[in-house]
Amino acid sequence: MRIFDLPIPEEAKLVIAKSGFTELYPPQKEAVEAGALDGRNLVLASPTASGKTLVAELCMIKHVMEKGGKVLYLTPLRALASEKYDEFRKYAALKRRDGRRVRIGISTGDYDSSDPWLNVYDVIICTNEKADSLLRHRASWISEVTLVVADEIHLLNEADRGPTLEVTLARLMEVNPKVQILALSATVSNADEIAEWLKAESITTDWRPVKLVEGVCLRDELEFNDGSAIRIKEDQGNPSVDLALHIIGEGGQALVFTETRSRAVAYARKVAPVVAKDLTRLDKVGLKKASDKILTTGERTRISNLLAELVARGTAFHHAGLKASHRKIVEDAFKEGRLKVISATPTLAAGVNLPARRVIISSYKRYEPGLGWYPISVLEYKQMSGRAGRPKYDKIGEALLIAKNEDEQDYLMRSYVLAKPERIWSRLAVESVLRSHVLATVASGFAHSEQGLLDFFRRTLYAHQYGSENIEQLISKVLKFLYKEQMIEVDGSGLTATDFGRKVSELYIDPVSGVVIRDGLYGRAKTLTDLSFLHMICHTPDLYPKYYPRSRELGELEAYVEIHADELMFETPSELTDRVAYEELLGEIKAALVLDAWNSEVSEDMIIERFFVEPGDLFRLVDSARWLIHATRELCRLFGHKDLMPKISKLETRIESGVKAELVPLVGLEGIGRVRGRMLFNAGFKTIEDLKHAPISRIMSVPYIGPKVAKSIKEQIGGFVKKDEWERLKRTKWDQTQLFEF
Ligand SMILES: Nc1ncnc2c1ncn2[C@@H]1O[C@H](COP(=O)(O)OP(=O)(O)OP(=O)(O)O)[C@@H](O)[C@H]1O
Ligand SMILES: [Mg+2]
Repeated sequence: MRIFDLPIPEEAKLVIAKSGFTELYPPQKEAVEAGALDGRNLVLASPTASGKTLVAELCMIKHVMEKGGKVLYLTPLRALASEKYDEFRKYAALKRRDGRRVRIGISTGDYDSSDPWLNVYDVIICTNEKADSLLRHRASWISEVTLVVADEIHLLNEADRGPTLEVTLARLMEVNPKVQILALSATVSNADEIAEWLKAESITTDWRPVKLVEGVCLRDELEFNDGSAIRIKEDQGNPSVDLALHIIGEGGQALVFTETRSRAVAYARKVAPVVAKDLTRLDKVGLKKASDKILTTGERTRISNLLAELVARGTAFHHAGLKASHRKIVEDAFKEGRLKVISATPTLAAGVNLPARRVIISSYKRYEPGLGWYPISVLEYKQMSGRAGRPKYDKIGEALLIAKNEDEQDYLMRSYVLAKPERIWSRLAVESVLRSHVLATVASGFAHSEQGLLDFFRRTLYAHQYGSENIEQLISKVLKFLYKEQMIEVDGSGLTATDFGRKVSELYIDPVSGVVIRDGLYGRAKTLTDLSFLHMICHTPDLYPKYYPRSRELGELEAYVEIHADELMFETPSELTDRVAYEELLGEIKAALVLDAWNSEVSEDMIIERFFVEPGDLFRLVDSARWLIHATRELCRLFGHKDLMPKISKLETRIESGVKAELVPLVGLEGIGRVRGRMLFNAGFKTIEDLKHAPISRIMSVPYIGPKVAKSIKEQIGGFVKKDEWERLKRTKWDQTQLFEF
């Protein structure tokens, strides 16, 4: 089926043709034939890189350009949301029937607003969590949505993020019974069942743009599922390294999945010297550029220095601990073919479009604290192996698992290569998960009685798969908890949320976090310090990531708790009778100390070294702490703790920028973060007044402040820069370190 024959506006076809597409891929053709463009609900389960996004794009065009509709595009990760935003922006050149240009918007930010500004967009891309929070705030434009695209819907199966997607979809169908649902999924065994739940047609394909062969490597022997076998040179004493070098020798690239971040790093270090030997001159030039870009983007840390060094040698590691900007540089260099190997944690397998000729799965085991080691699911294996084969560049893609002996070779062939992916199961019926969704359902007025609540939860995938009895019991347990903690009120059969309950729901925090903060604020510590608040938020279930102290840190943390016990909002659990709670406390104290170091302007590098955290983790911790302090301020306001407000507001700004209290006024300026703020302060600009009175040339003499930033400072504080002065300043020489972004 040709794209030019599709029943969509001609201008849109031209935009698609510009991307080089002329024919539909077979799964796309099936989707169109099943009625995707006629408004039918559809579950499309199809392998990695089989072109599911284009089906969504065709439907989007139809809805926006022809029907004057509105599209909500859901993704599981922020990184994927911005990838889709970049991809879809090309459609902003098109016009709707009424002559207005199509508007593409993205919203992944804070969770406590209905973001009314989104109203003007025709396509709104957001994460599942953001969509859930928009529903909680009853964003008015949601009722205008005519198409919901749910990408990577197999994530329904994930314990932590699946339930949000499930509830969000059930709610969207409830709010807009006429909405078209297009669910995109990796291949799973029960796409039909998911489709029944969504009242949709189901299409399952195993079509791939590049042929994939899968196999197992045992020492120097590779055995594939098409019956072929080859031998490679045993060179480095490590099959996963030999496999990568072999394919590079044949002109391909390798994507290596490792089970942990540190193994991804170790792997890259190991192959880099060997890969570097055979790089062409052109590759070296391109890689040097990418490497320099890493060094000049963001604060330099040990990790970014190492990454830059490895990239220059044709290799990179890639994991969630890296900054998004660094990940992007790595991905681009790989797509250009300059980087030869990427060693990654499995986060890369989900939806990011980064294929390689050979995928090497160095371990089929995973570790999780509390769970220990366990074998990955077939679904996860298929997501990783499916990354093999670059369309247009490779005739064939290869995915390999690594076995240690014959027995394991058999096991891997049987349990992964030849196995079918699992079924998707709802993960909703867990008390800690339901707490927040039950509260939200009442607080946002989607249900006004226990009966109303049950009616809603009967429409979930969980009820579809298991019946509703189990979930009903859990719901009444959750209701008791919410009533006891005064988040809901009961009047006969009627349910309403209290102001507290409504606030907790709107702040998008776990009700238990709400209780921890409320009780902390009432109970107060004997001696109230920043640590009191920092520990309080670290004690909530919402703080992420959780820290588990290393054994060599225990002594120091125990001593710290003893000295600072008076500053904590909660009683210290006994080390002897409640060891589990005590160790949790030590983990919370560690997180609080990391935040305190961040607020004291300790460099990222020092924090990483001293506390063994990775940069991406630090930013996630800071982000979730910032949110919880914001929630604390909101609850403070609600409960009338006026005396605490200024303290908490200041702490909020400090966490946001990672600065000591004295820099708070300066970092309020746009473009001024912890580094520039400190430079200004040390140069004598301690207040906004100081900056107001200084000539722009003096501000520019501060390290890291270039002409642009200096001009922006002046403009923000109410001054303006004359045109001729600006022309002169632009030409002045200034320290090149100012090119670093902060
Ligand atoms: N009809 C087509 N002709 C040529 N290329 C196409 C066509 N449709 C899609 N592609 C290209 O195929 C690649 C993979 O598509 P897409 O990202 O939609 O995969 P996917 O099915 O969503 O996979 P994943 O499970 O990884 O998310 C993209 O680079 C896209 O540009
Ligand atoms: Mg996709």
